[in-house]
Amino acid sequence: MKNTLLVANWKMHLNTSQASMLVHRLQERTRIHRGIEIVLSPSMLVLQPLSTQIDRRKFRLAAQNAHYKDEGAFTGEVSFNMLRDLVHYALVGHSERRIYFNESLELIRDKVAAAIRNDISPILCVGETAQERKDGHTRQVLHDQVTSALSNLTARDVSKVVIAYEPVWAISTFGGEVAKPEQAAEAIAFIRHQVEQLYGPKAARNIRVLYGGSVDDSTVRDYLEVDGCDGALVGGASLNPYKFAGIIESAYRLRHELGEDD
Ligand code: PGA
Repeated sequence: MKNTLLVANWKMHLNTSQASMLVHRLQERTRIHRGIEIVLSPSMLVLQPLSTQIDRRKFRLAAQNAHYKDEGAFTGEVSFNMLRDLVHYALVGHSERRIYFNESLELIRDKVAAAIRNDISPILCVGETAQERKDGHTRQVLHDQVTSALSNLTARDVSKVVIAYEPVWAISTFGGEVAKPEQAAEAIAFIRHQVEQLYGPKAARNIRVLYGGSVDDSTVRDYLEVDGCDGALVGGASLNPYKFAGIIESAYRLRHELGEDD
């Protein structure tokens, strides 16, 4: 049985002291759960101070972005190479980066490869816009995003990748319509099928696939119950310690009910 992976994407919120306060509150409310892996993704500036504050038995860290080259004349950028040893994970290709910063399929492919090269597990975010869904292009979009991002990897590399299905229309930033669990289920199955086409059934079984988009403490269970869903990527609700602790608690209760809480 795989771990349940819960990722808090704080986006461009919280300065160092606000982030420290939130971690303090979360730490008080979070028990250590074997079987549940909780990852905090604060701004770049906050990663270093949080790394000394967090209880590593409870939390891991993720970057929200990084540059695909390891070093060089790229003023203002931070590389995956600089983040190694500091973070376990990095978000790659979040829809806000694809849309606001025009990140292309090729750039995202290079970032996934850079993360792997530096021993950081990329959390590759994929998902269709409302228009693409309306036009019946959801599968095509997911196919293109998944196959291009994974194209430079070996089967061993792929086992370190996490894929987060985040339909753009369900993310709070872009409308926050609540996706039906059946819609998440269909997309997650399709994503796994793409991985199977590229890397075979074992890779498809083992890769972790998350759901993200307006997940909160009242809806997380519906998504975690979806067949093949290994966790959640949480934005807005992760900034509220009560809600995020509630999300962790729901995940715990579900594992407990399924007899998977060792
Ligand atoms: P949301 O964000 O939970 O606020 O919709 C999710 C995300 O953008 O990762």
